Amino acid sequence: MQADLFADEHDGQLQLASGAMLLRGYALAEQEAFLTAIDVVLESAPFRHMTTPGGYVMSVAMTNCGRYGWVSDVSGYRYSENDPQTNQPWPAMPSAFLHLARAAAAVAGFVEFDPDACLINCYQPGARLSLHQDRNERDMSAPIVSVSLGLPATFLFGGLRCGDSTQRIPLQHGDVVVWGGPARLRYHGVLTLKPGNHPLLGTRRINLTFRKAG
Ligand code: SIN
Ligand code: FE2
Repeated sequence: MQADLFADEHDGQLQLASGAMLLRGYALAEQEAFLTAIDVVLESAPFRHMTTPGGYVMSVAMTNCGRYGWVSDVSGYRYSENDPQTNQPWPAMPSAFLHLARAAAAVAGFVEFDPDACLINCYQPGARLSLHQDRNERDMSAPIVSVSLGLPATFLFGGLRCGDSTQRIPLQHGDVVVWGGPARLRYHGVLTLKPGNHPLLGTRRINLTFRKAG
């Protein structure tokens, strides 16, 4: 039950489901390296609001780094080796990202995670991400590693079917969530971001999800 969810937290680690773990503050030690590296990525691949296949402009702004980047437009969702805005490859995955994603995956029991894609989401107050599965990746044996920075948000973590009930997980700056194995295709989303001001990121939440896409 929701009220008991956090009673099982040990040393900042909480099992959300079989194959899914919350690692509180796990990215804090790397926050400066992350913010610097995000700025480098944004220089060549700025945030942009993509369009869904249904023709809606997403409220979350996105960009990517790594070999593959997740893109959406009227023709569908897919991974692309090039940024459609520049027709150039996405910026390389910074080594600080790779190290942290691999280490977090290992803590959650997924050894030798080798992400080749990092989707970077930027939420302003009012932005939300509706419930979805991450299913465009080729390799479902690899987990998803999600790093949250900036304003707090409520992460919805559901089941394998869209109608399943969801856990509401409050995520703070520096928190990491890993889901894979039996949890790999669980539905998840983010509730509408509330206004606020974060000392490092101002009026934004930035989330990075590491994936094995190719
Ligand atoms: C995602 O599902 O791609 C992002 C989740 C989040 O922003 O926490
Ligand atoms: Fe997702």
